[in-house]
Amino acid sequence: MATMKVRKAVFPAAGMGTRFLPATKVTPKEMLTLVDKPLIQYGVEEAVAAGCEEIILVTSRGKSIMEDHFDKSAELEASLEAKGKTALLEIARAVSKLAKINSTRQAEALGLGHAVLQAKSLVGNEPFAVILPDDIVDAQVPCMKQMVEAFNETQASILGSEIVEGDAISAYGCLACTPDPKNPKLLAVSDMVEKPKPGTQPSQNAIIGRYILTPRIFDMLETITPGAGGELQLTDGIKALMQYEKVYGFTYEGKRHDAGDKLGFLKATVEFALKNEQLGDKFRAWLKEFPL
Ligand code: UTP
Repeated sequence: MATMKVRKAVFPAAGMGTRFLPATKVTPKEMLTLVDKPLIQYGVEEAVAAGCEEIILVTSRGKSIMEDHFDKSAELEASLEAKGKTALLEIARAVSKLAKINSTRQAEALGLGHAVLQAKSLVGNEPFAVILPDDIVDAQVPCMKQMVEAFNETQASILGSEIVEGDAISAYGCLACTPDPKNPKLLAVSDMVEKPKPGTQPSQNAIIGRYILTPRIFDMLETITPGAGGELQLTDGIKALMQYEKVYGFTYEGKRHDAGDKLGFLKATVEFALKNEQLGDKFRAWLKEFPL
């Protein structure tokens, strides 16, 4: 069989972002700015760095601003060009040249599994990446690139995973898994539980917002029924997929920020600001003087 390549990345971005109200009443959560870029741009850049050529945004009513962000802004470019602001012009242009951007809609926020299912016809019959834009992963080798490299070996679905200590695991999908003897970063998954009750978790291996899935997942998502929280859960679809195919967890190298949560977003802002080439030194100096 020919080797399968990951060419497309799906971005579920149709949720209501209620944890971030009132900021997200009108502005999509995925467009909140981390230092100088909206969250979704970090994810799209990660997908591109992993070799994805096509981005599929799953949006909803009132969220078309995301498509505009990745579109060419002729007016802005003409104005910057006329004023000779070439550095800013390059920044504006680069965003619209990142990748081919497609979008589809999820009419109602019925869950992550349902959001991914909306991308079925745009993905077609090939493996694809899924990136949750509010999980920001800071890594030397972009997280999805690490996962694509693992996929090129396994040719099987791969779920980004990290250790979450104690009862905090109850906020995540959780894996029952054993490390692959040849590559301990790869975890052979035997079961998974969405948001396990404290004390019932099969392991401390949480699923994070990075997935590579084979196209059979769409058949599974079409048959599952609402699970935890009354939503169509992606993990339930993956669990069904496991009856037919191998599924792996993958312990990525890097640090994840839950930027969908106010505190996580603040922490990410400080860390990214400190690392920023233009702002880092000044921000650090200011922080040192700040009366805590
Ligand atoms: P979250 O649960 O973090 O997003 O889903 P949310 O529902 O928008 O946020 P809260 O909990 O109300 O604050 C992770 C990602 O999945 C998308 C979201 O847009 C987010 O990027 N999502 C979630 C969908 O696209 N559709 C859904 O039905 C649910």
